[in-house]
Amino acid sequence: MEHNEHIVERYERAWIFFGLGMIVVFILLIGYLMVANRGTITIGAGRVDATLVRTEGDFANPRVEQVGNEYVVYAQAFSFGYLPSEIRVKAGKKVTFKITSPDVQHGFQVVRTNINPQVIPVEIVQVSHTFNTPGEYRIICNEYCGIGHANMISKIIVEP
Ligand code: CUA
Repeated sequence: MEHNEHIVERYERAWIFFGLGMIVVFILLIGYLMVANRGTITIGAGRVDATLVRTEGDFANPRVEQVGNEYVVYAQAFSFGYLPSEIRVKAGKKVTFKITSPDVQHGFQVVRTNINPQVIPVEIVQVSHTFNTPGEYRIICNEYCGIGHANMISKIIVEP
């Protein structure tokens, strides 16, 4: 009997160590991801009056702006589409997207990248990315936003 209890104890100990080991692995993984993605996304990079997004300030003029060797994109995600209607950048240069919504919550997922912020009215979300591979990158909305949600798509053209 005593012999069996030792076996049980050993199993218990093994599982406790396994559990603790997994906690350590998760903490290290989260730490790694935080460092690896540092500075790429800023939620609440600023605030805007959602009722004025279309008429005043940077977002009333959605555009791709070249700043030195980088790009800044002022983008609107709205029901149901994105502005500017065309985003064209050169490969290998840092692109900083500043995005907001004049109406409801949307998504701004750029397929084949890790860009995938929620876009919330009143808030500006900022995401940076360097496209190293030329081509077309689809932008899709993955926050259900109404009847036209499924048609809410756009694209980024990355030139060589
Ligand atoms: Cu916008 Cu779904």
